[in-house]
Amino acid sequence: MNRTAFDPHDVRGDFPILSRRIHGTPLVYLDSAATSQKPKRVLDTLATFYETSNANVHRAIHHLGEEATAAYEGAREILCRFIGAGDPTCCIFVKNTTEGLNLVANSWGRSHLQPGDEIVLTEMEHHSNIVPWQLVAQERGAKIRYVPITSDGLLDMEAFAGLLTNRTRIVGVAHASNVLGTINPVAEIARIAHDAGAIVVADGAQSVPHMPVDVTTLDVDFMAFSSHKMCGPTGAGMLYGRKELLEEMPPFLGGGDMIERVSKEGTTFAKLPYKFEAGTPDIAEVVAMGAAAEYLSDLGLDVIHTYETELVDYALEQISTLEGVRIFGPREGRASLVSFSFEKIHPHDLSEFLNQDSIAVRAGHHCTHILHDVLGVPATTRASFAFYNTFEEIDLLVRSCRKAIDFFS
Ligand SMILES: Cc1ncc(COP(=O)(O)O)c(C=O)c1O
Repeated sequence: MNRTAFDPHDVRGDFPILSRRIHGTPLVYLDSAATSQKPKRVLDTLATFYETSNANVHRAIHHLGEEATAAYEGAREILCRFIGAGDPTCCIFVKNTTEGLNLVANSWGRSHLQPGDEIVLTEMEHHSNIVPWQLVAQERGAKIRYVPITSDGLLDMEAFAGLLTNRTRIVGVAHASNVLGTINPVAEIARIAHDAGAIVVADGAQSVPHMPVDVTTLDVDFMAFSSHKMCGPTGAGMLYGRKELLEEMPPFLGGGDMIERVSKEGTTFAKLPYKFEAGTPDIAEVVAMGAAAEYLSDLGLDVIHTYETELVDYALEQISTLEGVRIFGPREGRASLVSFSFEKIHPHDLSEFLNQDSIAVRAGHHCTHILHDVLGVPATTRASFAFYNTFEEIDLLVRSCRKAIDFFS
């Protein structure tokens, strides 16, 4: 295999946690799809904000307040460029992907859905792009349809087109599946959905950290993603929305910062994006999320994607040599994670076994009950990679799995 010039050893030193030893063995962190590790630049940004610029945003006239506001709004501009949004007022800070998707369901969904309307989701959605829609569908009397997946773990695009009717209002789709690794053709899905008169709500949790994502080119109406999966801190995330839609949507949460004027008779709301940012935001985390986006941009999302593709191809090749393994998802063109199972070893036992070798993987349903029902397994083991992982770490994973197979048989 011809490998790219990218060398993960050049960046591993940026991540203090990667030099940890657990049980006396160097940590092998293969759980970045759950949450990524954080480079020093992000950690320093958090500390520096609190040490030098801490104040509340938007309200204070004093110097620190102005500095904090400039840093917070600066992060919005960085993230707007990062996802190709074009207009920072369309970029709303939220707590995480889950909150972003709940915002759309509660605000757009509740104000637009009528009894008998339809929402089209996919069988591979994370619960955070299912449950908010189930809640609003129940309240509004709407129906949910699910796009099936093929035996290769791809979306069945023919079935998708067939599910759209003149009652379809919303299509919700994960850009990249957190279990199958499938990268869904979101631009094509958006074109088909728009032709049918529906809006598209994309879940970018597993794509934005790993590949160049441009919401304008994808032509989605909404996209949500989390800071903590893209080398940023927890507590911050973003919802991008199409301006015309955001402008006519009612607020999701009410309180300080999101108002223009409050009187006994009622309230008028602030302009975008503040209408959707009630209360004191996670200021330092947002600023550090901006630093994370800059860190990733400096490395180059195309470089990251190319390297991670090589990594996952190698992982697929190596894991498939394990006796009795079942690998889920497509063989090619996938995000940087591999979910797999063995008939005779429970994923929790396997991950506990791997943990003894200081290898961190995920075991369980990964918040995708519907997908696991479709796959016919209660749980899977998932190894997920980032650009700071090495080919040697995949060798260690496979070696440890081999020991587990011997042990459990
Ligand atoms: C595809 C996908 N969507 C949504 C989420 C939810 O992200 P968060 O917990 O940051 O809101 C995850 C988290 O694992 C995910 O993988």
